[in-house]
Amino acid sequence: MPKFKLNDQFLFGTATSSVQIEGGDKNNTWYKWCETGHITDSSSCMAACDHWNRVMEDTLILKNLNVQTHRISLEWSRIEPSPGQFSKESLQHYRNEIQLLLDNQIKPLVTLHHFSEPLWFQEKGGWLKSESVDYFIQYARYVVENLGDLVCEWVTFNEPNVYTWFGYVIGSFPPGIISIIDALQVTTEIIKTHAILYTMIHRIRKEKNFLGKTAVGSAVHIRVFDGLTFAGKKTAQAVDYCFHELFMEGITTGKIKFPLPKNRYPLKKGRYVDFVGINYYTRNIVEFALDPKNFFHKFIPDKDLNKSDLGWDIYPEGIYRICKKYYERYHLPIYITENGISDRYDNRRPDFIINHLSFISEAIENGIKVERYYHWSVMDNFEWLEGESAKFGLYECDFSTQKRTPRHSAQIYAEICKNKAYSTV
Ligand code: BGC
Repeated sequence: MPKFKLNDQFLFGTATSSVQIEGGDKNNTWYKWCETGHITDSSSCMAACDHWNRVMEDTLILKNLNVQTHRISLEWSRIEPSPGQFSKESLQHYRNEIQLLLDNQIKPLVTLHHFSEPLWFQEKGGWLKSESVDYFIQYARYVVENLGDLVCEWVTFNEPNVYTWFGYVIGSFPPGIISIIDALQVTTEIIKTHAILYTMIHRIRKEKNFLGKTAVGSAVHIRVFDGLTFAGKKTAQAVDYCFHELFMEGITTGKIKFPLPKNRYPLKKGRYVDFVGINYYTRNIVEFALDPKNFFHKFIPDKDLNKSDLGWDIYPEGIYRICKKYYERYHLPIYITENGISDRYDNRRPDFIINHLSFISEAIENGIKVERYYHWSVMDNFEWLEGESAKFGLYECDFSTQKRTPRHSAQIYAEICKNKAYSTV
């Protein structure tokens, strides 16, 4: 078993998102997606973990896990139920939730957009209407002005690459569009919005003299794509370019790379993040396939690797490889904004956590500046298309009673968070 000891500045945390845990909101795109029969087990995000009514109980769980930081997302549809109408109650709810974290010495990292949107936003055309960018900016401004005294650190978009791929290329997430042209347009709009928000969040916090060091980034879903054959290697590079590169480069440096449509308001090339946020789960072996419907590639499971319940290859070394790659490129601190496994019986999660963290520790020893690790997730929650059937929690959540029960890995993770170390002896 590997051992590791991380430095005192390294922060351990957990991550969640609003629609996946809160329950009770009918005004967002995912509620409608559930209602219209898109979820494999027919469950709905209407229930989720009822976290909206259990913030106290769930904060206690975080305290018991000894995390130093916690990543949440705000539900735009609750904060701005109709265009330009902001809900003071929802804002106050989030203020209370964040205050509770702070009272427990847990540093909040707050995401503005985690896949879900108000229904009205999509009815107006979503990211395909460039004036919609202004809606998002207006919402973000309201939030940062009113929560920015409590929150220094922000994630603008969670996994913009997953959002765009599933929502606009293959159409399995809302808004369910299948169009490469639209996907490219949306990518540019999101990069532009991110860059505007980066500057805006810094400006607002500075003008209002809010305390604490402002940090803004995004959380990009990064996989390792490996090819084993010549064609596989070339295909892996192409997939990497489309799925990672366009987003990572755009968000980090403002570059709008080929074949993205140029921006109507050109972005100045520069630096638009204070940290590189990476959600890492798995590696895919890529092979070329004569199949235009699948964009000329297929993924081949590695028969030598263990799998999660969802069939994802467990490949801890990948976390080392991506941290190295992006640190050498950008020389910015790296936050692992998500890493976790769907593992109902919890018989792979303990090793999963320990092995990923020991690769992070090795990366740090080799001069790669990884500063945070957020485990996905605190408890089983509404896992998008898989609904309630995927089990990503350190705590098991019984959705019928809302009882939370710690799995063995919760105890292991709590020890790791407390000691910033793991050792079998
Ligand atoms: C997302 C989470 C999701 C997790 C596990 C990430 O893609 O940000 O919302 O639950 O992975 O699939």
